[in-house]
Amino acid sequence: MANTLGIIKPDGVRRKLVGRVISKIEQSGLVIRGLKILQLTPERAEKFYAVHEDKPFFHSLVEFMTSGPIVALVIGGHGSIEKWRELMGATDPARAKYNTIRREYATSIEKNVVHGSDSAANAKIEVSFFFREDEILPRE
Ligand code: RTP
Ligand code: MG
Repeated sequence: MANTLGIIKPDGVRRKLVGRVISKIEQSGLVIRGLKILQLTPERAEKFYAVHEDKPFFHSLVEFMTSGPIVALVIGGHGSIEKWRELMGATDPARAKYNTIRREYATSIEKNVVHGSDSAANAKIEVSFFFREDEILPRE
């Protein structure tokens, strides 16, 4: 019953997709255990995406992720890490399955509306990057 981190990226907030994304999460049976809206500084975005610092898209990614507010979510429920990745769809919207968030709403491989942790270890690190222990609802 581990939690995972979800982010609605600046394109999603700008395009007023927050309600739709949260609705998909709730309808899937997953639960929102933490929620905040904030804007990343370049330093914080670089730290969050440090695993990608050698990639050609790193600079552009940091610029995009700091271009406006984001919504950070702690998502819980059975199989939350895998289920949330499934709801998001593949990184590249052209490859994402139908009915996934990225297939429906992403406009490019970069501007793909949402983020989700990709493993249990990263979920723990990423949730604590944005949330203190007392900002997360306890498991039922
Ligand atoms: P995320 O980390 O955001 O949940 O997405 P992901 O696991 O599906 O993709 P990842 O490979 O971790 O890449 C992180 C984010 O970087 C941007 N990206 N741009 N221009 C490109 O080729 C490219 N590739 C990745 C996307 O915003 C991607 O979600
Ligand atoms: Mg990733």
